[in-house]
Amino acid sequence: MTTILGIETSCDETSAAIVVDGRTVRSNIVASQVDLHAKYGGVVPEIASRAHIERLDAVIEEAMAVAGVTRDDIDAIAVTNRPGLVGALIIGVTAAKTLAWAWSKPLVGVDHIRAHAYSPAIEMQTPPWPAVGLIVSGGHTSLFLIRSPIDIERLGATIDDAAGEAFDKVAMILGLGYPGGPLIDKLARDGDPKAIDFPRTTLGPNSLDFSFSGIKTAVLYHVHGHGKTTGGLEKLSQRQLADVAASFQQAVIDVLVRKTMLAVKRSGVQTVVLGGGVAANQALRAQLASACEQRRLAFHAAKMAYCTDNAAMIAALGYHQLMAGDTAALDLDAYAHAR
Ligand code: KG4
Ligand code: ZN
Repeated sequence: MTTILGIETSCDETSAAIVVDGRTVRSNIVASQVDLHAKYGGVVPEIASRAHIERLDAVIEEAMAVAGVTRDDIDAIAVTNRPGLVGALIIGVTAAKTLAWAWSKPLVGVDHIRAHAYSPAIEMQTPPWPAVGLIVSGGHTSLFLIRSPIDIERLGATIDDAAGEAFDKVAMILGLGYPGGPLIDKLARDGDPKAIDFPRTTLGPNSLDFSFSGIKTAVLYHVHGHGKTTGGLEKLSQRQLADVAASFQQAVIDVLVRKTMLAVKRSGVQTVVLGGGVAANQALRAQLASACEQRRLAFHAAKMAYCTDNAAMIAALGYHQLMAGDTAALDLDAYAHAR
């Protein structure tokens, strides 16, 4: 039995978790900063870093208390060291290095996006690999061929906005608030996904890359701009607002599902996994599940608690890296970009 303490501070969630053998989550404490950033309409890096400093010690203590472990039970410390806000990452990395040194434990540096890719496997008895992974978050949108937890090949990625970023920006255009994903998800349930034909940008029939900046502009023009304008946000009824949300969401989902199926065809695997913050979207989960069912593919979406940022996925992937001997020295650094 190998017990890992995971630490995550890459964006606006301060999180610590205790996970056994990369699978069993004994605790997963997440202190969200949404309330601190909401009035600015997005994450303010300096505020995020300060909040991580203030909260991280208590979050780690709580994760250990809930799991009922002491430092003697912990076999290694895993920490997100890329990609993310560098000032925010440094808080977690510094805490992890300090504990690794003080407690004489191995240190593991974990890639946040790869941890999202691993997240659907948490708490599964039989690992789902090999699989095509659709990983959709606020900062990244990628398709991966996941052969094992530590053998992950990127098949495609967004060339501009991430899917979650598009949800957040469209929510802003519609005056819904921040973060936009869950608000659009909810509003879209009352709307008609066929009401407005927003563009599905595919970048060509064979591309596994994504582009979500055009659709945000299309929504903006639909609400305020020229052409088939509604004449401004204030002129939209609640029903029309819901139609815009549902139609936007459907356009994004169509592209995500289509490209995931293309990746499956190309790679020849029989399993699809879904992870990242946007994986919490109910319509996306349902429609990807049904596309997989039609083709007799196995489908596993990350549990809701492991979709948005959390340290359980960091500890879980950290376990597999530890087993593979992929440990870090105490000069481990933080990086803004993915490897
Ligand atoms: O993975 P995550 O917590 O952070 C990053 O690594 O970026 O993803 C956050 C993103 C945000 O853009 C948020 O709006 C989106 O996930 N999100 C959703 C939903 N819940 C969160 N998007 C669509 N539907 C949701 N239910
Ligand atoms: Zn994330």
